[in-house]
Amino acid sequence: LRSVVVGCGSALPARCVTNDELAETVETSDEWIVQRTGIRQRYLSDASETTSVLGTRAAQAALDDAGLDAADIDLVICATSTPDHTFPSTATQIQAGLGMTGGVAFDLQAVCAGFVYAVTTADKFLVTGSARRALVVGAETFSRLLDWEDRTTCVLFGDGAGAIVLEAREGEGTSADRGVLTASLRSDGRHREKLYVDGGPGSTGTTGHLRMTGKEVFRFAVGQVTDVIDDAFRASGTTADDLDWFVPHQANRRIIEASADKLGIARDKVVLTVDRHGNTSAASIPLALDVARRDGRIKNGDLVMIEAIGGGFTWGAALIRW
Ligand code: ACO
Repeated sequence: LRSVVVGCGSALPARCVTNDELAETVETSDEWIVQRTGIRQRYLSDASETTSVLGTRAAQAALDDAGLDAADIDLVICATSTPDHTFPSTATQIQAGLGMTGGVAFDLQAVCAGFVYAVTTADKFLVTGSARRALVVGAETFSRLLDWEDRTTCVLFGDGAGAIVLEAREGEGTSADRGVLTASLRSDGRHREKLYVDGGPGSTGTTGHLRMTGKEVFRFAVGQVTDVIDDAFRASGTTADDLDWFVPHQANRRIIEASADKLGIARDKVVLTVDRHGNTSAASIPLALDVARRDGRIKNGDLVMIEAIGGGFTWGAALIRW
């Protein structure tokens, strides 16, 4: 069995905030942000646009795209680090929001690598016959974790959600089959201090704020993350030349371009949406996939590499024949 992508959707908050607008309240400039990160604008949620609300909208859009109903789904995995509540999970709230009463739904937390982890997990359910159709959602409202007094972090992030529908189908077992071909995940908890949230039920009892040593994250992201990509190529018998699209986590234009160059991936195969969405953590890859599919770049049969690194550190890559 193979896990084939049969639908894709996304959702953004209504309010778009440009760098110039941000510079009215934060000591920063459009020039600084664009030069260091490539970010030009981001979408910021209001109180009604919670993670589960955005996630439900993205999930419904993916179902519509697939021509399916909620009743056709038997697995919902939501990758998020910004749930509406500590519990119940955002995934069960998305399930209820879609009108689903069956199947299984759970959250998965691997910060910015969450969507790659969630695709990999859903794939295991589908190829073993434990589920038939999965909604894989990445939904985040990082604006709620930001310290708006800290200009080194608050300019980088945005809110949003994206989703894909995966369906178990028979395959020949070759890299020409549609579906998730291979995935490689890693984590290393020694790096906690470089990127974390300084709150939670077991520490301050408050939600806390995101803290980051930007330079060290940058160095790790460019230096280390290629191991999982090399693994994914090797396991599927493909190379960078076979790729049609590279859709990495959208944290920073410089990280993305440096990684692509290091891997020998041509710049015109790189899908870049960080300019319009900012860093939306686990939502960034499905948001980018949805943009590239709707504008006609990603087509059925294309070979697509998704890749991300997040807090922990956690990182991973998956190769998908779309
Ligand atoms: N506006 C204007 N000036 C700023 C801002 C800002 N928003 N933020 C920092 N500065 C200033 C600093 O105060 C510093 O000034 P100084 O030289 O007078 O002290 C100067 O700009 C340079 O600051 P650095 O921190 O050295 O800037 P750097 O070149 O490292 O860029 C950045 C910072 C963009 C965060 C970079 O380190 C980076 O891209 N890191 C990767 C982090 C990342 O993308 N993380 C995303 C989350 S993790 C993930 O998704 C995987």
